[in-house]
This record gives sequence, C-alpha cells and structure tokens, in this order.
Amino acid sequence: MSHRVIPVDPFDYVVFGGTGDLARRKLLPALYQRHKDGQIPPGSRIVAVARTRREDEAFRETVRTSLQEFLPGAESDGCAVDAFLAMVSHVAVDVEADAGWQDLAAFLAGAEDRIRAFYLAVGPDLFGKICTGIGRHRLVTANTRLVIEKPIGSSLATARAVNEAVGSVFAEDQIFRIDHYLGKETVQNLMVLRFGNSLYEPLWNSAHIDHVQITVAESIGVGSRAGYYDSAGALRDMVQNHILQLLCLIAMEPPDSLDANSVRDEKLKVLRALKPIGEDEIDVCTVRGQYRAGASEGGAVVAYGDEIARSESATETFVAIRSEICNWRWAGVPFYLRTGKRLASRVSEIVVAFKAIPHSIFPKGSGVIHSNRLVLRLQPDEGVKQWIMIKDPGLGGMRLRHVPLDMSFATSFQARNPDAYERLLLDVIRGNQTLFMRRDEVEAAWAWIDPILEAWERSGAAPRPYTAGTWGPSAAIALIERDGRNWHEDSG
Ligand code: BG6
Repeated sequence: MSHRVIPVDPFDYVVFGGTGDLARRKLLPALYQRHKDGQIPPGSRIVAVARTRREDEAFRETVRTSLQEFLPGAESDGCAVDAFLAMVSHVAVDVEADAGWQDLAAFLAGAEDRIRAFYLAVGPDLFGKICTGIGRHRLVTANTRLVIEKPIGSSLATARAVNEAVGSVFAEDQIFRIDHYLGKETVQNLMVLRFGNSLYEPLWNSAHIDHVQITVAESIGVGSRAGYYDSAGALRDMVQNHILQLLCLIAMEPPDSLDANSVRDEKLKVLRALKPIGEDEIDVCTVRGQYRAGASEGGAVVAYGDEIARSESATETFVAIRSEICNWRWAGVPFYLRTGKRLASRVSEIVVAFKAIPHSIFPKGSGVIHSNRLVLRLQPDEGVKQWIMIKDPGLGGMRLRHVPLDMSFATSFQARNPDAYERLLLDVIRGNQTLFMRRDEVEAAWAWIDPILEAWERSGAAPRPYTAGTWGPSAAIALIERDGRNWHEDSG
C-alpha cells in the first residue's frame, strides 16, 4: 500500500508539559515517527518546556527511554532515535512563578519567520497563564499556532472561560483544539465512505436507517489519572468530545469541501439539533454506571472506589444515552451512545443499522432475515464490515445467511496504522484545522451535556453498579431493548 510522505515546512514545536505523560506517551513518539519517515525537514526544533531545568543531554536520555517504552520494539531504532534527539531541546519555564520566559524567548529569537506551534500538554488551569506569558513576551508571530487538549472546561460556563482566555491572545484561526478521535484512520474513512461513494448517501436518512450505535468501550481502569477522572466522569471525559464528534461526522450534511469551516459548520448544525435531555427524560434516556470488583484484562481487578481510594465516589465510569437529532434527515432515528471503563473488551465502533425489508418473499424455514448493518471499527482491528444477507452456497433449498463483507484495513493494506497524533500534530504545522474543533462546536456540545449533568445532580441517584469485565449495568441493555433493538455483537 502506498504511504505518501509530504514534507512540511520547518517549524519550532514548543511543548509545555514537555516532560509530562501526554508528551512522553503520545507527542514525542508521534513526532519521532514523522521524523523517521522523512516528513520533518532539517532545522526544525522541538522544545520541551518544563518547570524544572534539566541538562539537555540528560533530558534527551529521558526522551530516548520514553520512545523505547511507548513505541513497538523495532520502531525505535538507534540511528533514527539519535537523529530525532538532535532536534529536541529543553527549556525551563515556571508558569506559576512567572519565571524562565526570557530563556524561551531567547531560544526562539531569530526564528520569527518559521512556523511556530505552542502545544499546551498541561492542565487547563494553566492555559490562561501560559497564553498570557506567551503574549506578554511577544512570542506570537504571524505563523504561530496554539494547540490545546481537552478538558476544555467542565461545563459550558467554564469552557467559555477557557476559550476567552486563549482567545485573548490567539485568533480563532490560530487555535487548534485537539480531539484525537478525529485523527483516527477509520474516522477519516467515515468521511470517504459517505462522500466518496454514491452508494450510501441516498440511504443515509430516516427513511432507510433504523438507528445508529456508537460504542467506545475500554477494558482499562482509570490508572494514574484518578484525580482528573473522578472530577470528570465518563460523560465529560468521552461523550462531550470524542463520541459527539463521531456522531457529528455520521449525521452531518455533506460539506461543500474538506475545508475546515465547511466541515465544522455542518458539525455545528448537528450539535445544535441534538434533542435536549432534561429531568423528565433522564431516566429513560440515560444510564450511568460505576464498576465494582471483577475480572478484566486477564486478571482480578478492584472496584473503582478502591482503585482511586475514594469509596464514596459517585462518579460514573460508564454512560449510555439514547439521543435524537431533530432535523429532517434524522427525525425519529435514535442514536445510542455508550462508553465505559473496565468493560468486557476494548472496542470502539459505529454501527449504522438499516431498516428491515418491508416484506419477505422467502419460504418459512429459509432462515431469519437480518437487517443490513454497516459497522465501522475504530479499534482494535480497524476496518469496515457491511453485513448483508446471502444465499448459503450449495444445494438444499433456499437457506439465507447473514454475512459481513469484511474489509480489515490491517490485512487488506498491510500498512502501519499511524497513531492519530502523527496526523494531527503535522496538520497543525500545515495550518489545516479540518480535524480540530472550533470554539462554537465545543460550546454547543457543552450546551447539550450541561442539562444531563444537572438532571443527574438533582436526581441524587448513585451510578448503577456493574461488575468489571462486563458490558455495563443491565439498565444499559434495557435502554436499547426497550425500543426492540439490541447492542451490536460481532458474530462474523
Ligand atoms: C481520552 C480519555 O481522551 O481518551 C481517556 O481521557 C481514554 O479516559 C482515552 O482512555 C481513549 O483513547 P483511545 O485512543 O485509547 O481510545
């Protein structure tokens, strides 16, 4: 499979939180891969900013260790790592104490013409202070971009405050709000399937689609992020961003091009058309859960409360929602969303379930006629399956069988599946905002999430318990079965 490498222009990538978890786990490995592939031109620099000063050489050794830890063995080969480390530097800035900015300014001085990206891989409480420091030290050039990660607020009001703070220094077209789900290969493919084929689009509406399911299931627990996660919960952590972004790409009208604002305008309309879920519907349209002790990833695991050492926590680690989009295309089509930690397996997929045939011409005993389903698997085993009915081959009468037309990307194309950050980090350098969230999208998503959070709060009900290693509380199964439907199970 051809894999095209288009070099970008030289840049300075300044990563605040440069020694933190996100930088070590995702950002540096992703930049390393792009460098190894020859996409990053000579002279480009990566500057890891951290509070405590370390010598460059010692710092580079920590980067080497991270690459070995977070990249598959053969991919962190010695020469390529040495070449990559030569472009990595370290500068100490203590944002809280407002110290060290001059060192960063001195480092960047003289490179005003090249592309400069500031990546804030730090908690959102520091976004405002860092942007102010960047502005005050005149580090924003015509070619400067700012990259921020979620959480962008924890409610509409706090998201607005974050957006105001960064917006006071950077223009909207300089701000890249990352949702790493948008960089995933299958998510990109969703747009090609919909808009690169004439097959699906005529069927892509309430006349032909019965319902849609979006599942992002994880088998891991909260790990080392207990502090953040316990204050966020699954709704804020996964639904407000990743799942709603997936929903937007499935439900949006065709944009006129892949131009950033064309795509984002269409996504925004979907978010604004989501039917609000208020107090009167909260019990029928949402289920929240929290895992109890069980078995996961091949071993016994403790309950959420024990994992985070806060047994009284009422934070949800699972959520299922029945949502609807109030517009002509989707009126009456439920979108079932679910996500959770410590579920039976790690699987993220989108299922588009088509309507049943109106009438069967086949004799009794031919077998059950299942309705068609298009399944987009984001991970693991990225690929697309179109489930159809066929005749069982051979003699013996008309026997019907439900089978998938299976296109697993890994086996079909034999290509390394790049991590989402590889694409997104370089899109920042290219100045392409198509896969990044605009301010109004983030705020529209919060405007839909806030009433759910408030209704949960007012109800005072604790999350429903589920055993780790299962598919969540039984109420989540009831949520969909009540409508005469069921969560998709891959049997092929
Ligand atoms: C992050 C969430 O945004 O996405 C995590 O904060 C979650 O809680 C992660 O584990 C899942 O990402 P991926 O790419 O592993 O599916």
